[in-house]
Amino acid sequence: MISKKMEQALNEQINNEMYSAYLYMAMAADCAYKGLKGFASWFMVQYHEEMLHAMKLYEYVIKMGGKVKLQSIKEPPSEFESPMDMFQKTLKHEQFITKCINDLVDLAKQEKDHATEVFLQWYVSEQTEEEENDNDIITQLKLIGTDTAALYLLDKEKATRMVTVPTDFSKGIEAAIKTMSSGA
Ligand SMILES: [Fe+2]
Ligand SMILES: [Fe+2]
Repeated sequence: MISKKMEQALNEQINNEMYSAYLYMAMAADCAYKGLKGFASWFMVQYHEEMLHAMKLYEYVIKMGGKVKLQSIKEPPSEFESPMDMFQKTLKHEQFITKCINDLVDLAKQEKDHATEVFLQWYVSEQTEEEENDNDIITQLKLIGTDTAALYLLDKEKATRMVTVPTDFSKGIEAAIKTMSSGA
């Protein structure tokens, strides 16, 4: 079982992850509008990753006998200046998410909720990876500067990122992972 307080905090994190998905979907849409198809694809891959983050929390809350309560998702910005603007905003948002995860870990510790603390470790590692990815792309964009030919090539490279997470949660995440790894 999880406490009511923990249930509420995990439900808030479901909302944060759904907002992340929504934000990256907005960035994908703006990229597509501007002809940056590779970046658009990259952000849609990221959208799927965030949906998995939300679903993992969703399943955990239910597994622990809690109640999932979905809240309204804030409207993301629809207009971005440039890929650099997007990745700087992405990094800033991920730093906020990292803080949220750290706060959740602190709450789990306070409540001596070891199960939730262990569950959250996956998110702690995931956040390190996400911030590193965003920093890498910001570095690439800095190198490119105003070179549009180089931006064109980077856009092509970003198109190669593939979805590696399950996207059909109708039978649960575990079943989806099994289906994926069996190549079905
Ligand atoms: Fe996330
Ligand atoms: Fe994320």
